[in-house]
Amino acid sequence: MNILLQGGRVIDPSSGRDRIQNLLISGGKIRARSADLKPTKGPAGRKRNDDLYVIDVSGKIVVPGLIDMHTHLREPGHEYKETIASGSQAAAAGGFTSIACMPNTNPVNDNRSVTEFIIKKAAAAGIVNVYPIAAISLKSEGITLSDYWDLKEGGAVGFSDDGRPVMNAALMRRALEYASSLNMPVISHCEDTNLSAGGTMHEGFVSAETGLVGIPGIAEDVMVSRDILLAEFTGAHIHIAHVSTAGAVRLIREAKSRGVHVTAETAPHYFTLTDEAVRTFNTFAKVYPPLRGEADRAAVREGLADGTIDAIASDHAPHARTDKEVEFDYAATGIVGLETSLGLSLSLVQDGVLTLPKLIEKMAINPARILGIRKGTLADGADADITVIDQNREWVVDPRNFRSRGKNTPFKDWLLKGKAVLTIVGGEIRYQDL
Ligand code: DOR
Repeated sequence: MNILLQGGRVIDPSSGRDRIQNLLISGGKIRARSADLKPTKGPAGRKRNDDLYVIDVSGKIVVPGLIDMHTHLREPGHEYKETIASGSQAAAAGGFTSIACMPNTNPVNDNRSVTEFIIKKAAAAGIVNVYPIAAISLKSEGITLSDYWDLKEGGAVGFSDDGRPVMNAALMRRALEYASSLNMPVISHCEDTNLSAGGTMHEGFVSAETGLVGIPGIAEDVMVSRDILLAEFTGAHIHIAHVSTAGAVRLIREAKSRGVHVTAETAPHYFTLTDEAVRTFNTFAKVYPPLRGEADRAAVREGLADGTIDAIASDHAPHARTDKEVEFDYAATGIVGLETSLGLSLSLVQDGVLTLPKLIEKMAINPARILGIRKGTLADGADADITVIDQNREWVVDPRNFRSRGKNTPFKDWLLKGKAVLTIVGGEIRYQDL
């Protein structure tokens, strides 16, 4: 299919481009960018014109397809929470053309057959690009390294025991050395389980007042500190997942200034909510790391603004009603994010924290760079993975409309401004709400 996206504001931070222009897609690739193309003007929306679909995107933003570098698809093993197909649909509806999925499935993605299974299932679903992240250790138990070479050959793009930290520093050292020899990142879930033991929310006034057991911010900071030191010692690339504390932001900032190869992501709930969200024992706001205090939230926003935090990732963690509609202590942890991530992140632009090009860097360009995937550009000849955003569209979060099987969002009924209205993957339209 040939598509002409007509009259949009094209923002491509990979080349510094930011201007109104047409974008032509042919054979799954971005073929040309030319203000001179003069297709027959049709009525609003999409019109067939000699095999060229002309889509009027004037007033909208055209950007490299968004990449969510931290998603939980629950297949294999927990398909009642999410499948590769339903998660892919949710991704496309949220404006993502590529997602990287964490290995905490059942079985854990610690061997090539699981990696290949995910890739095959994703190809059969045929909606977005899915990149598996494989486990650092067998069963993510933190005892024995998995076979990185084989996993890379199978299609893995990084290593993480996400959901669980690697408590053994010697194992983490070897993981960094092995991954580094393959030019791949280790993605760290930073939590000292001795410090976090028994906790279900952030340790602070709200935990004291509710009587819930707290997880102190230092449980994250200690591990961020250790992993930075190990990355410095080995020269390897450590990527810190879901940054939630002021301490972590400060440590990463300092490490970057020393030249340590550290990158970092945060998730929209950490720059949007605080621990106040769990005061009512709302299990949909129960997540690890937990929602922190206001000073942490402010520091995460500062870290995004000054470049300390490279990426915004959804940490999409779908759970079933039965996992969440129980007492707070027993509820599963996690928040769905694929379909609210962009809307929430655009508030950073509205609040003046980030410019729109900077936001696109954090949601497309930097995730591609960190994972080493050839995406995140609108250059001529690049894969036609494109997201069109209507910055002014106001919409109300209604989990019943989610494509995801998971409805566990603390943002139900929130009014958001801005959403993806067209998601194109490999030149094919995967989602449209123009
Ligand atoms: O809250 C969380 N949920 N944090 C994680 O690290 C894992 C995730 C999940 O898989 O549900």
